Amino acid sequence: MDHSPPAAMLGRPIDELPTPAPLVDLDVFDANARVIADRLTQHGMSWRPHSKAHKSPQLAKRQLALGAVGITCAKLGEAEVMTGAGIDNILVANMLATADKWRRAAEVQRTATVAFCVDDERHVRMASHAAVAAGTDIGLFIEVDIGMHRVGVRGPDAAVRLAELIAAAPGVRLAGMMGYEGHLPAVWPAAEKTIKVQAAVRKLTGAADRVRAAGHQVPIVSSGGTATYQSAFGVEGLTESQSGGGCLMDRFYLETCHVELPVALTLAATVVSAAEPGVAITDAGFKALGSLGSMLPPLVAAPSGVTVSGLSAEHGLLAAGPADLRVGDRVTLIPGYSDAMIFLHDKLYGHRGGVVTEVIDVAARGRLQ
Ligand SMILES: Cc1ncc(COP(=O)(O)O)c(C=O)c1O
Repeated sequence: MDHSPPAAMLGRPIDELPTPAPLVDLDVFDANARVIADRLTQHGMSWRPHSKAHKSPQLAKRQLALGAVGITCAKLGEAEVMTGAGIDNILVANMLATADKWRRAAEVQRTATVAFCVDDERHVRMASHAAVAAGTDIGLFIEVDIGMHRVGVRGPDAAVRLAELIAAAPGVRLAGMMGYEGHLPAVWPAAEKTIKVQAAVRKLTGAADRVRAAGHQVPIVSSGGTATYQSAFGVEGLTESQSGGGCLMDRFYLETCHVELPVALTLAATVVSAAEPGVAITDAGFKALGSLGSMLPPLVAAPSGVTVSGLSAEHGLLAAGPADLRVGDRVTLIPGYSDAMIFLHDKLYGHRGGVVTEVIDVAARGRLQ
């Protein structure tokens, strides 16, 4: 096994990396980021990519350099890692439910602007209490349920009530409103997706209009993911999109969601056993590639004619088909879902033209609290 430190990988061909090796083609990542940022700019919207898949300040900074105005994080702990790396203007698309976390939320404001979602009076009271105690100011986003039935206030009246409470509470301010149409990525054909996404997003913009009509400013109205943001184009009042995973891509976006972007994220694996003709076993199972309920298995990008027929913890079962795979052969896989893969790894290898140019620290992995 290769015990070389990651920095020693710089300048080496990706084919020499010890496997399983998670790879990011940086030319493709950058091109995808530019495409997403340009599309949003053309529609008068800002880009706040969700960093939940890559959990990496390095990749977040790359997105910021390519047009993002800020980033979205899933967790307070992830936002702390991002701010520690110098990243500003973060939305944590999640709620904090305890006083100790709101204390940290108040503290983190000393180095960066980090907003948090609320859908309950308790969130606002705890946020206000923590901000006053710390002498800081916390921006809050009222989250609206726009059909996913996960978090979010159920309707505009509840949004207005929370806005009033925020306006009356010291130490907090209404920074924006958000909703996520996470029940719609797989809707197809495109025309049907557009109708459903626009109806969902109008629940958010409609609630924002009601909050404004009650006398409150709503500077940001945020929604959208890689599989849905384009369907929302044309909805008046939506100011930004959280689409993030499209920079990396995976089989879910490609096949289930019909996202037309090239794939930047792959995993290199090695055949460790080929005891039976037509079958090969790799060193990459679900602990390298991820696993999530109904997730599609990885696709084999190379060699052609090979499919993944199963994943156990540390073994990948390939149906070799016409390809004659032997022990030591390398296989390149496109993960079923990037979100379920990257957090399993400490480092990703960024490459250009097959040569490692950057070792990417997945610094916020495990920062679940
Ligand atoms: C709050 C929120 N915003 C946006 C997204 C979409 O992210 P992506 O573009 O990476 O698919 C998700 C996906 O789970 C989400 O939970």
